[in-house]
Amino acid sequence: MGPPRGPLCWLLLLTAACSGILLALYSSAVGPYPGPRSGARNATWSGTFFGREVSNAGTRKSPHCRHPLSLAIQKHPHFRALFNLSTPVLLSGGLFAQELWDSLSQYKAPYGWQGLSFQAINSTLSLLNDSESSKLFAASGKPLPNCVRCAVVGNGGILNGSRQGLNIDAHDYVFRLNGAVIKGFEKDVGTKTSFYGFTVNTMKNSLISYRNLGFTSVPQGQDLRYIFIPSDIRDYVMLRSAILGVPVPEGPDKGDRPQTYFGPEASAGKFKLLHPHFIGYLRERFLKSKLMNTNFGDLYMPSTGALMLLTALHTCDQVSAYGFITSNYWKFSDHYFERIKKPLIFYVNHDLSLEATLWKDLHKAGILRLYQR
Ligand SMILES: *[C@@H]1O[C@H](CO)[C@@H](O)[C@H](O)[C@H]1NC(C)=O
Ligand SMILES: *[C@@H]1O[C@H](CO)[C@@H](O)[C@H](O)[C@H]1NC(C)=O
Ligand SMILES: *[C@@H]1O[C@H](CO)[C@@H](O)[C@H](O)[C@H]1NC(C)=O
Ligand SMILES: *[C@@H]1O[C@H](CO)[C@@H](O)[C@H](O)[C@H]1NC(C)=O
Ligand SMILES: *[C@@H]1O[C@H](CO)[C@@H](O)[C@H](O)[C@H]1NC(C)=O
Repeated sequence: MGPPRGPLCWLLLLTAACSGILLALYSSAVGPYPGPRSGARNATWSGTFFGREVSNAGTRKSPHCRHPLSLAIQKHPHFRALFNLSTPVLLSGGLFAQELWDSLSQYKAPYGWQGLSFQAINSTLSLLNDSESSKLFAASGKPLPNCVRCAVVGNGGILNGSRQGLNIDAHDYVFRLNGAVIKGFEKDVGTKTSFYGFTVNTMKNSLISYRNLGFTSVPQGQDLRYIFIPSDIRDYVMLRSAILGVPVPEGPDKGDRPQTYFGPEASAGKFKLLHPHFIGYLRERFLKSKLMNTNFGDLYMPSTGALMLLTALHTCDQVSAYGFITSNYWKFSDHYFERIKKPLIFYVNHDLSLEATLWKDLHKAGILRLYQR
């Protein structure tokens, strides 16, 4: 999600150093890309996997994938117990009810609505009443591929000089996030963007911090959809203003015109909202960090990249991750678009070591293809 800004940033960095989180190193070797697995063709779908068609992806089954990740999950004793592909990924108006309010108001954002106003949440969610709002891959005229192949592009320095642009663009859907600079890096990161994921905080920080490095605007396009991560009330307020096509009426973003970020099209179908319960499920099952038990536990949440990659893993049939942290991260700059090598810094608001281990293990299990070099 990128560094927090201001004095807090230094505090976080100091704490990280003191608690030994800084410069965590990984020792075990990473295996090659998974080869073809025998038996994959005899894939049978267990009941667990039917729900995702309805709640997350749309209307499909995936008989034409050579290596659907659901099959790799089913075969893996550890990950089989963690994944529930029926968990709703997106929150839409139709899901809002008193029971959901009662349940989510027990948790702070991004996991819930504690301390937020019922009225504010309801007024945003009631706008997400479009049939597209509950599905990530909306059927905008085009039929969904039989096997939905997704690339999730993090911003890691490993992509500098990688020449992965064509491979990335060959996927059905491409997810990007935060300071996703494209211009000048097309050969390395591609040009296609289907989804852009962010919190208002990370989006605006990226526009400030990486402006000089080429991140002068958020990716825009007719087929592009935005995925809001509800980390704060301001995300709900911005989302509401974006759908209505009006300036933000209140809060830290007061007066902002959403179309300066997201382009002229204001409609419910253009914007998606991650379900707070999904974010909590991801933290509990996949990214339960030791940082949660420190004084800074409240600051900890999975990174934007982790949330996008896990979103793809719960909605696509095959997922490749590019620009995500690998065991040899120290060889590369923090971001691919930096001009001078800048080391990756481990802040305490995310647990990048834990995320690195997760990607490596998912790759080994054949659930994910992690780009490494
Ligand atoms: C697939 O299933 C059929 C029976 O339905 C069986 O004869 C065949 O050996 C299986 N193939 C593999 C690769 O498991
Ligand atoms: C998976 O999630 C769905 C939807 O939240 C829930 O109904 C179901 O009980 C869960 N399954 C398991 C095995 O936890
Ligand atoms: C949310 O607000 C709408 C009006 O905008 C209202 O009709 C609806 O009942 C409210 N939902 C709940 C759960 O109170
Ligand atoms: C969604 O809600 C808006 C505002 O309440 C309304 O104008 C629109 O017709 C609704 N759309 C659907 C598909 O229900
Ligand atoms: C990016 O890669 C080029 C060579 O491909 C290298 O000269 C440059 O130093 C790299 N940039 C960073 C920030 O590492």
